[in-house]
Amino acid sequence: MHKMPHHTSGELVFFVNGKKIVESNADPEMTLLTYLRTKLRLTGTKQGCAEGGCGACTVMVSKFDNHRKEVCHFSVNACLAPVCSMHGLAVTTVEGIGSTKTKLHPVQERIAKAHGSQCGFCTPGIVMSMYTLLRNNPQPSYEDLTSAFEGNLCRCTGYRPILEGYKTFTKEYCCRSNNGSGCCRNGVDNVQEERMSKELFKPSEFVPFDPSQEPIFPSELMNTDKYNRSIQFCSDRVKWLRPSTLSELLDWKSQYPHAKIVNGNTEVGIEVKFKNQYYPVYIVPSHVPELKKVEIKDHGVTFGASVSLTTIDQVLRDQIRQLPEYKSQMFSAVVEMLRWFAGHQIRNVSAVGGNIMTASPISDLNPLFLAAGCKVTLVSRNGSRQVTMDDNFFTGYRKTVVEPEELLLSIHMPHTKEVINFEGKYLKSGVLKSNEYFYGCKQSPRRENDFAIVNAGMRVAFENGTNIISDLAISYGGMAPTTVMAKKTMTALIGRKWDNCLIDEVCQLLSEDLPLSPSAPGGMIEYRKTLTASFFFKFYLRVLDELNAKEVVDTSVPSSFKSSLSSFEKDVIESTQLYQEVKPGQPIEDAVGRPMAHLSACKQVTGEAVYCDDMLPIQGELYLALVTSTRAHAKIRSINAEEAMAVEGVRAFVTHNDVPGENLIPIVDEEIYASDKVYHVGQVIGAVVADNKDIAQRAAKLVHVQYDELESVITIEEAIKKGSFHHPIKAINTGNIQEGFEQSDQIIEGEVRIGGQEHFYLETQAAIAIPKNEDGEMEIIASTQSLTETQKWVAKALGVPANRIVCRVKRMGGGFGGKETRSCPLSAALAIAANKVGKPVRIMLDRDEDMCTTGTRHPMLVRYKIGFTNTGHIQALEVNCYSNAGFSKDLSIAVIERALLEIDNCYRLPNVRATGYACKTNIPSNTAFRGFGAPQAILVTEHWMTDIAVRCGITQQKVREINMYREGDLTHFNQQLSAFNTLQKCWKECIIKSDLQRRRRQVDMFNSENRWKKRGIALTPVKHGIGFELKTLNQAGALVHIYDDGSVLITHGGTEMGQGLHTKMIQVASRALKIPTRKIFISETSTNTVPNTSPTAASASSDLYGEAVKIACETLRERLEPYTISNPKGSWEDWVMTAYVDRVSLSSTGFYKTPDLGYDWETKSGNPFNYFTNGAACTEVEIDCLTGDHRILRADIVMDLGESLNPAIDIGQIEGAFVQGYGLFTTEDHRWTPNGVLLTRGPGMYKIPGFGDVPTVFNVSLLGNTSNERAIHSSKAVGEPPLILATSVFFAIKDAIASARTDSGFTGTFRLDSPATAEAIRMACKDQFTEKFPPAESGTFTPWFVRI
Ligand SMILES: Cc1cc2nc3c(=O)[nH]c(=O)nc-3n(C[C@H](O)[C@H](O)[C@H](O)COP(=O)(O)OP(=O)(O)OC[C@H]3O[C@@H](n4cnc5c(N)ncnc54)[C@H](O)[C@@H]3O)c2cc1C
Ligand code: FES
Ligand code: FES
Repeated sequence: MHKMPHHTSGELVFFVNGKKIVESNADPEMTLLTYLRTKLRLTGTKQGCAEGGCGACTVMVSKFDNHRKEVCHFSVNACLAPVCSMHGLAVTTVEGIGSTKTKLHPVQERIAKAHGSQCGFCTPGIVMSMYTLLRNNPQPSYEDLTSAFEGNLCRCTGYRPILEGYKTFTKEYCCRSNNGSGCCRNGVDNVQEERMSKELFKPSEFVPFDPSQEPIFPSELMNTDKYNRSIQFCSDRVKWLRPSTLSELLDWKSQYPHAKIVNGNTEVGIEVKFKNQYYPVYIVPSHVPELKKVEIKDHGVTFGASVSLTTIDQVLRDQIRQLPEYKSQMFSAVVEMLRWFAGHQIRNVSAVGGNIMTASPISDLNPLFLAAGCKVTLVSRNGSRQVTMDDNFFTGYRKTVVEPEELLLSIHMPHTKEVINFEGKYLKSGVLKSNEYFYGCKQSPRRENDFAIVNAGMRVAFENGTNIISDLAISYGGMAPTTVMAKKTMTALIGRKWDNCLIDEVCQLLSEDLPLSPSAPGGMIEYRKTLTASFFFKFYLRVLDELNAKEVVDTSVPSSFKSSLSSFEKDVIESTQLYQEVKPGQPIEDAVGRPMAHLSACKQVTGEAVYCDDMLPIQGELYLALVTSTRAHAKIRSINAEEAMAVEGVRAFVTHNDVPGENLIPIVDEEIYASDKVYHVGQVIGAVVADNKDIAQRAAKLVHVQYDELESVITIEEAIKKGSFHHPIKAINTGNIQEGFEQSDQIIEGEVRIGGQEHFYLETQAAIAIPKNEDGEMEIIASTQSLTETQKWVAKALGVPANRIVCRVKRMGGGFGGKETRSCPLSAALAIAANKVGKPVRIMLDRDEDMCTTGTRHPMLVRYKIGFTNTGHIQALEVNCYSNAGFSKDLSIAVIERALLEIDNCYRLPNVRATGYACKTNIPSNTAFRGFGAPQAILVTEHWMTDIAVRCGITQQKVREINMYREGDLTHFNQQLSAFNTLQKCWKECIIKSDLQRRRRQVDMFNSENRWKKRGIALTPVKHGIGFELKTLNQAGALVHIYDDGSVLITHGGTEMGQGLHTKMIQVASRALKIPTRKIFISETSTNTVPNTSPTAASASSDLYGEAVKIACETLRERLEPYTISNPKGSWEDWVMTAYVDRVSLSSTGFYKTPDLGYDWETKSGNPFNYFTNGAACTEVEIDCLTGDHRILRADIVMDLGESLNPAIDIGQIEGAFVQGYGLFTTEDHRWTPNGVLLTRGPGMYKIPGFGDVPTVFNVSLLGNTSNERAIHSSKAVGEPPLILATSVFFAIKDAIASARTDSGFTGTFRLDSPATAEAIRMACKDQFTEKFPPAESGTFTPWFVRI
């Protein structure tokens, strides 16, 4: 271990929520987040990723600006901020602004009441981003609002309710509600249908926001220089030196030449956490005046290297306002680029010097600095020098010309040049105009808060009054190991005219300037090359437009090209949520059918809601860190933990040898700790138990494992080739497939691939194991959807009967299927460790560990042959579905079964041969995910429906309608569809509500007028079967106690993961017991109250547990009846007390099993599903054909949820699922190395939708006047079906692409795999640019990544 010589450490002083913290042992390696959560026990601030990508850890930091004499507030990611960087600052966490015990702050109240908190794990971070915005700007614009959330993610809500709730703080809302138009309030104004309501919350009930009531900044931190003086903090391992003068900085730099300079720590923090870097000395220049200085000069602005990106943005915006346009072109490009650069939390702390010196090949600013020829000043003890940022500045991957002893002092950003002189003449318009133009471009997988795939800075100057190029600078990021300049192109174009003839030549020159080998890091070779040309083309058009406007050239940009000049803007979202109100006369205390807010919402918004890792540590508790395989398939030769065991604070190393019971869990054929062989990267081999997380994780990295590698299978194609499948292979055969094809006029054969999907629950997998050290008892607190399954795994692993193991869960920060089975091996591994050390042990996986070990939605490859008549009627389908199941079976057979059962979606398939293979590969075991195989299958179904329409020359709507199921039809698995007419109703209502016909014409019109931006519109239906395919699982238990004070405690077998199950159960109980919901409580789910529970999954929990709770409550109500009859005027409390005194049992169980369920795969008889949830969605998108970017303009969803138990929760489920499905089919792209290492293992690389991705118009309606006799109180299940409706986004994108292809002369059907990433969209829009960069022949190179 590295040890530092002893230094005197200063006292770290900062304020948290108004309280002064004095820390005499400040640890420079500790983040603010760890300090808040573990030292101050302020667990409201969450860890979702530890890499600045999710915003769950957002806090507000305030400081007194001695110069401006004012307090400034800024949001910060506590996961990246070193606690030492807080010296002299004030931190506000979610606990500091309001609480349920006092009162909620308006930002907390509004998100809770607007239904913007489901699982609640993201909520404190979102609350703090909003709070910071309001502290700086009590009445922000809508643009400010959306910008404030660029650094926050939510996986549950789909963002719409958060934006609607917070829109009430904006200028736009206030001005419109004041002038009475009400058009930016939620809901439509003219709802005429019977009992239909548009109001999910009442803004009029919100507590007004009064900015004068906010906590005041600690006076001790004001008007003092005390905290700006130099200071140092030292631990045994690391030294943190914060100088206050340049001379001191240079002294320390020369004393510690290898010290790490750190500003915002947004790069260094990642290196330390994820790249195993160790820096014994940090030098922090944040308080050195020269590095913080901003100097406005005649020819530009000079920024000190430590100036934050937020300050740069503000200063440049000021300059743009003040300067003539021609001078500020480069500034405008920087400001525009900063819009897409990370989120506020990152920009507030990260420094321009950090961005330059990281020298990342995908830095967003360096291409602009190179194109502008910015000058930087470098200093050392030996003096200073100025260097121009040009092609020589970056010398290699993450290397610059800056010498080791030098520091970056400042950067000068120049004005773009004034007009030189038009030989004394002014242009016709008489205005002196610029002759230099500057633009930046960036394309990333997701528009907001994402790293660039390719970016560029481009500057051109012309000879006086002409379009002859006199100077040209083009630099690209993402095309080489460094930011590079396209030198050949630059030279060749000097003296040339800025006209159309350039384009072809530039494509050729760029490919010479920017050669990318087919195996280049980052992959996407043809796309990246195409982007370089597309960017230049955009630049060309913009400049041409300017030259034309200035009358330098006559050629104008064709009108059909003009829309390509602008990037997508964020419009104010508009939305409607329509549902049927409860019947008149429903008693007020009967909560069923009312849009109640999630019952934990108020605790979630204040940070009081307790998740697994928020639980107070138990005396003597230890922490577990996993040691996992780095090979996809290998024999373990040796494991050496000696070095790890020598680390102070390490208590044990655990392996398969420590398992007292069974290490191999037979049903799934998985080992808890790998004993002999490993079958995927990330498989658990051992675990280190230590005093805390930091020590455990550090020691785990010191365990050395040696392997003998074995041949591995990674992709579906490899598995098919090698016949590597989990058994059984499932099939459904109906009708006569041969006859079907014979009767077909046309046959299409094809293949489509659908990528997997990471669950990305905001709370990663977590558990605590507490051994009781008596009779083999153990308590497990876990973030799991399956308590019984956890109990079984742990009991088997410990070799004890299940009755010794109690498993509990209060709530989860999201599950989505990812905690159905994959949480069980983790709990078992933890239990084994706790058993070994005889002490409580805790674990919460880091995001990257979670993503590498716990599996995803199954990727699928589907090969199909579909026969149909010329009128579009389907005659026969032959389909082979191959899922990538991973190394163990887990639920993969059930998932492939579900895919086969849903391959019809909503259409009659008279003759079918469908076969499903679960491919056995060397990747983590893939598992359940909302929809359970159905979204993949249905995407393919809609794929061929689209193709049939193209082939038959009829509309997609028509082809879907003529094949759509009707009441009484038989499905391909022989289930008769009864009470099914709501599918048609949803479909028709969606057509009307979305105004489809008119908008189709508008889309066509738009497309005929625009060449490089295209729109697409698609309408897709869904029918989703409700119930577990495995009959046994369709059972549920509940336990209801009434205490003698009248309060009611419910426990049932379902778990709460944000979906509002507990809220709905309390609503059901309120009707059954005839009491208000406030008298009823649910504390947690546990195996010692309700045994043998099924996983909370398959959308079925409200149906199952609702009935069980109802039965238990009705039993109790019956027992109380004599007392209500004898005392009709008495209160509930009176009856309960009398019954108690009368010795009546006030506790009851309830048990329910779904009748008439069960499918026999041999005979294809029986019903796999209890009923079907139906719906339809219509989505319109716009794509940028040159870059592959897209946005959703509008989405309309109509769903039949029977008589909804809670319309607010159900609409929340619809919107959240739709946006999650949107992610599945567009941005969420898993990339693997060819040897089975997951590359996309955090929010930095794996892109779930963000705030900026919400449809601009988002309307959701629940079908009125419908009911469902097969589920509790005539409701219908909702969790999974709406996710599938996101197929409408995918096919709207495909529709838009088709138009672009037609313009290039490519008509007919074409393949588009899912996800439709920016890359996929761009490359499908074939044109003169894509043609220039053909792919290398496959098999001639090893790609950087593969899709599995
Ligand atoms: C979630 C997230 C999103 C991001 N998004 C983007 C993005 O969209 N675009 C993009 O370009 N980058 C992005 N980044 C990368 C990063 O934030 C930026 O590069 C940032 O500007 C780094 O600044 P910092 O002050 O935090 O650097 P630090 O981490 O403090 O330092 C970075 C490096 O610069 C060196 N350094 C800093 N100052 C000096 C100096 N004065 N002299 C010599 N060396 C110095 C340090 O020693 C270190 O090697 C993102 C990072 C995160 C975590
Ligand atoms: S935990 Fe800090 S941003 Fe995700
Ligand atoms: S409520 Fe946002 S992640 Fe669950």
